[in-house]
Amino acid sequence: HAGIQVAIDGPAGAGKSTVARELAKRLGYLYIDTGAMYRALTWLALQKGIALSDDAALARLAEAADIVLLPVPGGLTVLVDGQDVTDAIRTTEVSRHVSRVSAVAGVRVPMVRLQQKMAMRGGVVMDGRDIGTHVLPQAEVKVFLTASVEERARRRFKEMSLKGADVDLEQLRADMERRDREDMTRETAPLVQAADAVYLDTTGLAFDEVVGRLLDMVHSRA
Ligand code: C5P
Repeated sequence: HAGIQVAIDGPAGAGKSTVARELAKRLGYLYIDTGAMYRALTWLALQKGIALSDDAALARLAEAADIVLLPVPGGLTVLVDGQDVTDAIRTTEVSRHVSRVSAVAGVRVPMVRLQQKMAMRGGVVMDGRDIGTHVLPQAEVKVFLTASVEERARRRFKEMSLKGADVDLEQLRADMERRDREDMTRETAPLVQAADAVYLDTTGLAFDEVVGRLLDMVHSRA
């Protein structure tokens, strides 16, 4: 059969995307990074010089933009209006503005519609902030993945440093905390644990351990 829906939510830097990608690979499922979609839209808005305070313009952009997540060996290629933005959406600039863009209700409507369409046939691991609560409320497995803010900042620092980015740990931590606060306090689909999600604090847990626990959850439900 086609497989179930797995929803993974949590704050920034909790390891959602690396865990979700590995889980999808092990299960032969499709991995859908919804944060990449909001990042792609933010990148596009910055490119076009759209005022990030202009909700109506952002909503129009979201309706018109052609955002594609293309599965490739080892990950996802992100295309917006045909352009490869896979690396461009990971900059500090995009990270700093994405919460403002994603808080706009009119931006979320077309993004959620697209996400639901991609997950319709099952066999998906989707990560984000509102997957278990709004996008896939019927998901068979829901996980709220988190870790201490220190650990999340350290992980992200390591990841970005390895890519050659010049990042400051304290700055990264401050940006991350602000983004989480914005995501948790927005009116539309804020970051919150779904009532039926399993809470998993990965502080001090090895990556394989986390993936193993999620695999167990899927195997007991699928
Ligand atoms: O997952 P990632 O950190 O790349 O997400 C970037 C941002 O996109 C989040 O901080 C949040 O503002 C927004 N987002 C969202 N809903 C999702 C996924 C991401 O609002 N489902």
